[in-house]
Amino acid sequence: MVVFPQLRLRRLRRTETIRKLIQETRVEVRDLVYPLFVEEGRGIKQGIPSMPGIFRFSPDQLSAEVEEIARLKIPGVILFGIPKHKDEVASMAYHPEGIVQQAIQTIKKAVPELLVVTDVCLCEYTSHGHCGVVLNGDVDNDQTLPLLAKTAISHVEAGADMVAPSDMMDGRVKIIRETLDKASYHDIPILAYSAKYASAFYGPFREAAESAPQFGDRRSYQMDPPNVREALREVEEDINEGADMVMVKPALPYLDVISRVRATFNHPLAAYNVSGEYSMVKAAAQQGWLDEKRTVIEILMAIKRAGADIIITYHAKDFARWSESNV
Ligand code: PBG
Repeated sequence: MVVFPQLRLRRLRRTETIRKLIQETRVEVRDLVYPLFVEEGRGIKQGIPSMPGIFRFSPDQLSAEVEEIARLKIPGVILFGIPKHKDEVASMAYHPEGIVQQAIQTIKKAVPELLVVTDVCLCEYTSHGHCGVVLNGDVDNDQTLPLLAKTAISHVEAGADMVAPSDMMDGRVKIIRETLDKASYHDIPILAYSAKYASAFYGPFREAAESAPQFGDRRSYQMDPPNVREALREVEEDINEGADMVMVKPALPYLDVISRVRATFNHPLAAYNVSGEYSMVKAAAQQGWLDEKRTVIEILMAIKRAGADIIITYHAKDFARWSESNV
């Protein structure tokens, strides 16, 4: 056995070149997906106060943005819509001229090769802000399912490459898969937000997307933060229903969940580095309390090291710019 003083682990940390050579984890721009908020209207590029650097775009402002994203070599975007009209049954979520449907068409025209993933959920479109149909004060699982399927298929008809249900209803992956297959969209993959926790870290997103629940909270459908074995059951359920890829969300406070899912399943795994995680870094960096670039790289590295293949992150454009100038 080689022990100190022969054993010296510092030998391999001596220079940047050696450190790079033995680097176990790499984050690359091609691992990243960038969230985009799209809003009905014209001429809108409105900043989100709690998420510096992130904007809400009307469709006519999207082309320039997605051209920039593609130029930075970010492979894909995930879309969130902010409709003008909200109602009890989220009509604008599955309307052929809904905001996301319009945005998909604009993006596909501007940059056909950019991967367009859509968030399939009703919360931005319901008057009460819940992710499904509300009956007797609670979100009704089975009545919500057909609306989610209608939403998914309308996104695909508009040109989406992949759908990502984030509602946490049981059975949503199954009904979406069946509906897509019936319409001959066998080749459209489903990225399931499988282990999505009821998290305080979604705060800035809900302000951005105007999707905070008007009463109660999401704890009867999103997961309880203390649980990890239950996350494995959620992932298993979605895989059995036909999910092509699975997701853990948020990312940083749930690295152990990412790691457990990675060790248990072989499906491609995404992690969502959510709005609150982004806002914390931005706020501290603006105060001069954290070095933004080093912090972001360390965070993304940690999410990959835990086992994520794909990271959905609001930092994607910044990271891509740093990579261009060689991190
Ligand atoms: C639901 C959805 C949410 C997020 C993504 N999809 C919000 C929620 O569940 O309340 C949060 C993303 C983030 O915080 O960045 N449509």
